[in-house]
Amino acid sequence: MVRGRLMAEGVPVEALARRYGTPLYVYSQSHLASRFAALAEAMAPVDPLICYSVKVNTNAAVIGTFAGLGAGADVVSGGELYRARRAGVPPSRIVFAGVGKTREEIEYALRANILFFTVESEPELDRIAECARRLGRKARIALRANPDVDPETHHYISTGKAENKFGLDLRRIERAYRRAAAHPSLEIAGLHMHIGSQILNPAPYGRALERVAGLCRRLRARYPTFRYLDLGGGLGIQYRPDQHPLDPARFAKIVLPFMQASGLRIVLEPGRFLVGNAGILVTRVQYVKSGPSKKFIIVDAGMNDLIRPPLYQAHHEIVSVRATRGAVFGDVVGPICESADFLAQDRRLPAVREGDLLAVMSAGAYGFAMASNYNSRGRPAEVLVQGRRHALVRRRERREDLVRGEVAPRWS
Ligand SMILES: Cc1ncc(COP(=O)(O)O)c(C=O)c1O
Repeated sequence: MVRGRLMAEGVPVEALARRYGTPLYVYSQSHLASRFAALAEAMAPVDPLICYSVKVNTNAAVIGTFAGLGAGADVVSGGELYRARRAGVPPSRIVFAGVGKTREEIEYALRANILFFTVESEPELDRIAECARRLGRKARIALRANPDVDPETHHYISTGKAENKFGLDLRRIERAYRRAAAHPSLEIAGLHMHIGSQILNPAPYGRALERVAGLCRRLRARYPTFRYLDLGGGLGIQYRPDQHPLDPARFAKIVLPFMQASGLRIVLEPGRFLVGNAGILVTRVQYVKSGPSKKFIIVDAGMNDLIRPPLYQAHHEIVSVRATRGAVFGDVVGPICESADFLAQDRRLPAVREGDLLAVMSAGAYGFAMASNYNSRGRPAEVLVQGRRHALVRRRERREDLVRGEVAPRWS
């Protein structure tokens, strides 16, 4: 806040809302760069390959910012691979994850000659081998280990426990490596893990590394091409005032000794950590409705624009774009016809009036990327700010965009 006005770097958020309309995603480029630098610096002793996790925020300006800083990309679909390449990420720094890769996606990635596939099951391994053979190429692969550790986060974003669908358990994985080695079209490049998201305590990373330490030693001795340990993403950020983001130095303190001893090159796939706190969602108050027990601040952003609160019970701070006096108790809700359509519930909120602007904080990660057209609402515009400069990096969707691609059946 500067003189009672919320700023995005050197630009008043009010001015951005006036210029580009609402709802509006605003990202700070300096914040993106400083998060990347903080992680790169903390991990510098082991020369990390930081592959930005594209799923988190898919805007080309965001991916391009990281590509310009030397980042690679972690992709989970042919669409994300397309985006990463288009934004300038060299294929030699792209890794491809996901449990359900199709033949078409595998062949697209093989033709692009990406760094490696992270492989989640034996049938997927066989399919990648078959695709590579057909194309006369060699596919580099890293099997995804499920180390069965609790990342101490929300169960929807916990991915490294035995009951999750991801990866191969440690008893099975060595057999899967032998299966990979029997395919002449595969090259064993490394091991992958991703234990969960929004991890605030680095200890689970240490536990996961301990579980795979012996395995890595054996694999390195057995397969000369085994050279990467991809630790995934998951580093947590601050959503609530009393939370502390995962400090890269604390993360490094746990991870560096293991990596230095292993002789492997580390790959990281951070997403939320790099973009979460760099973005806000700006929304305008449409109505203030008094219910019997609380107020409803009805805004022009809904669950189609930011689904995290209903999907994950996620907390986002909500602040008034212009300093206000007084507070009310209630919910911030959107215009969607669902009771799950809320941005905040049962909170002390700024006493705003119709026409005022609110900012939903820490909305840079899994915000626009998860937005939909539900209730036939166009998705918001996105703006990138750098210092006093600002640029529209995705225009607001228009009504025509809603029906693009739809065709009437011939018989109608
Ligand atoms: C394989 C993989 N890598 C990286 C990420 C990014 O996670 P985060 O945003 O928590 O860093 C995810 C998130 O789902 C993932 O599944």
